Amino acid sequence: MKLNRRIAIAVVFTACAQLLSAQSPIKQAGKVTAVTVNNQDIDVTTENAFIKLTVYSPNIIRVRMDKQKLTADFSYAVISEPIKTRVDITQNNDEINLTTDSLKVNIRKNPYLITFSTLAGEVINQDEPGLTTSWVNESVTTYKHMQDNEHFIGLGEKTGPLDRKGNAYTHWNSDTYAYTTGQDPIYSTIPFYIGVHHNVQYGIFFDNTWQSDFNFGASNNRFASFGAKGGEMNYYFIYNSHVADIIRSYTSLTGRVKMPPMWSLGYQQNRYSYYPEAEVMRIAETLREKKIPADGITLDIHYMDKYKVFTWDANRFPDPAAMTKKLNSLGFKVTLIVDPGIKEEKGYGVYERGLKEDIFAKYPDGTNYTGQVWPGWCNFPDFTNPKGRAWWGSELKKYAAEGVSGIWNDMNEFSTWGQKAPDNILFNYEGKIASHPQIHNVYGLEMIRASYEGFKAARDNKRPFILTRSGYAGLQRYAAIWTGDNRAENDHMLLGVRLMNSLGLSGVPFAGMDIGGFTGGASPSLYARWMQIGAFNPYMRNHSGINSKASEPWAYGEEVLEITRNYINLRYRLLPYLYSSFYDATQTGSPIMRSLTIDYTHDENVYSGQYENQYMFGKAFLVFPFDGVTNYGKLYFPAGKWFNLYNGQVQQGNQKIALDLGISQLPVYVKESSIIPMQSQIQTTAEKPVDTLYVHVYKGDVNNKFVYYEDDGESFDYEKGEFYKRTITYDASKRVISFAKVEGSGKSKFNNVKLILHGFADNTTFKLNGKQNKLVKSFEALMVPISRFDPTGQSNPVEGENVKNIVMKNSNDVININY
Ligand code: NOJ
Repeated sequence: MKLNRRIAIAVVFTACAQLLSAQSPIKQAGKVTAVTVNNQDIDVTTENAFIKLTVYSPNIIRVRMDKQKLTADFSYAVISEPIKTRVDITQNNDEINLTTDSLKVNIRKNPYLITFSTLAGEVINQDEPGLTTSWVNESVTTYKHMQDNEHFIGLGEKTGPLDRKGNAYTHWNSDTYAYTTGQDPIYSTIPFYIGVHHNVQYGIFFDNTWQSDFNFGASNNRFASFGAKGGEMNYYFIYNSHVADIIRSYTSLTGRVKMPPMWSLGYQQNRYSYYPEAEVMRIAETLREKKIPADGITLDIHYMDKYKVFTWDANRFPDPAAMTKKLNSLGFKVTLIVDPGIKEEKGYGVYERGLKEDIFAKYPDGTNYTGQVWPGWCNFPDFTNPKGRAWWGSELKKYAAEGVSGIWNDMNEFSTWGQKAPDNILFNYEGKIASHPQIHNVYGLEMIRASYEGFKAARDNKRPFILTRSGYAGLQRYAAIWTGDNRAENDHMLLGVRLMNSLGLSGVPFAGMDIGGFTGGASPSLYARWMQIGAFNPYMRNHSGINSKASEPWAYGEEVLEITRNYINLRYRLLPYLYSSFYDATQTGSPIMRSLTIDYTHDENVYSGQYENQYMFGKAFLVFPFDGVTNYGKLYFPAGKWFNLYNGQVQQGNQKIALDLGISQLPVYVKESSIIPMQSQIQTTAEKPVDTLYVHVYKGDVNNKFVYYEDDGESFDYEKGEFYKRTITYDASKRVISFAKVEGSGKSKFNNVKLILHGFADNTTFKLNGKQNKLVKSFEALMVPISRFDPTGQSNPVEGENVKNIVMKNSNDVININY
């Protein structure tokens, strides 16, 4: 329906509705009665609401609304202030108009209705006329008009399809053991989504920590809505011309991931639980013996004395510091699980200190809330209390002193047996006092904040690795997230991919899943597939539940071991690429697993159920998470040209193909014009690679740029400029590959650069800084082909791929290669 007609009809209906409004239990914003403009802020009063519009930047408009006068502003998620922005504001009796360099906002006055448009006047997003924003008791909801063919993506860790249209979701962080592929809610809350229609895209971040609900046209075809059980209507509208820029804008509000410690990008071996020490050592040594590159061993709850956090079981682990030292010398870092529940037990120092510091969450009568979890009856630290966070941080010092490198925050939804922590628990909420329903969804966020800050302080300038199960918008500032207790089933492997892709769209690039499945047991082919996909996850950890079968790479026989090793090997050779992609994430919020909706937003195919799991790993690799049971699937290649990773063959884009593929290969393609820095094979990131950086460049018709980034991989010195960074450019039109001047005061660990050129014709001539270069023709491919499974591991080099090498000294100056 045309917009004007819709509005006209809605005006008639609104007039009728107003007649009823006196009796109605639904309070709508209603007619605007006063407007005050104050630079970038507009205060609007309506019959039933107080509204503040803030221009946060040319691309971001914040809308706050409440039934009563707006109180002091506070957010755990948003860490930035509005930036000074040029904005033109005008008003007359009927409307208020606001224009920035990027968008227009119109507020109709009678009754209140907000519309966001492009500068050219196309509607991006509009309140649903007649419904707009309303309250039912303390619940508040904003109803947006559902545009024709609108897609909805993001919303963080949400199950179900990539396109959220036709579905509704609730945010209430929950411990969901063995959840189903459509279960909602699960562990974490990110109330941010992106809408896509008619060549435009926008983001909405609803910053409200109460239980919230999003409805993208479930049981209705009229609106998409978001609302919460309490608190303000408080949302940020974001408009940019690319999805990647919307994510950049969103992460300008909620913060970005920090450079992770290099070891955390290696392979992590996990089980619920490895113990005693001898078993931990046996796992570590077997990984080395079998030449499976690995960097992490993670210890689950059985390392503790009767599940009491910050203790060790002295029989199982008599000398933790000596054990972490031994593991370190083998190139392993140790991550320990911690749970928030602190056992109520006289004489348990952690509990006694908590009591003394008075940091536990309380009932209104001043007694501590007690709930049952692993250790029995527990009290729960109040992480919304700065004192509570400081206490937690000081307890972490012990682990730091024992040589632990990572802290795995589990059960922080927070979980208690029965899953029904009462509403009448009080939390400090930075001195403002709040009830459980208000803070529930940020409990996990504040726990990982405490872990991050505490562990950072305790480890003297070493980057903490923090892993979490729960969180809220902004969690990327403190931790990596994993998707909890999945099942060893094909659908769960694919769901895990979608969860991570969705987290990536929602500002969280560092994510992982329990590879191999937490509950149940995978078949060998499913396990092999899962490990292959896992090699293309930001965080790669194999984990399995207490009663499930062994899930180490050697648990499924020789063939699976060989396949798994091949892909972990590739991941380790790709670390310069992966690490640089993380650098990009620190600067732009750009995810490591990029749903195709980021780069191919208006291509309808990428939303289809058949192709919704496909993603880019960084900006170069198109990964097809292939079925691990039937080994049959359909692939969709978006526009452009794609090189088969294994044989270099070119696949034209805008095409669909069906594939029947054995388990030894995961379909992966390289985007044309890609630049991929790699290193020699290592077994752990503690090992130095050989002195040459291998830069693979794929021929293409589009221009490309890759920011290569290195630093020491463990300290915060990069914040002081100690890094080594250079932009590598592929200019297809000028036929130049260039390495810009080095930035940063750090030194590269590579003295040589070998440029490996894929797809260039045999007779191409290359000039290195003006001089004709002698090319070495080789069959070097990015991945040793394993299409024919070769148990000896001595596969033949790729026949037929046109690959050339240029070897040069790594200089800090500009290098140009013309062809
Ligand atoms: C629940 C976690 O999700 C799982 O990964 C862990 O193994 C168990 N808790 C035991 O700590």
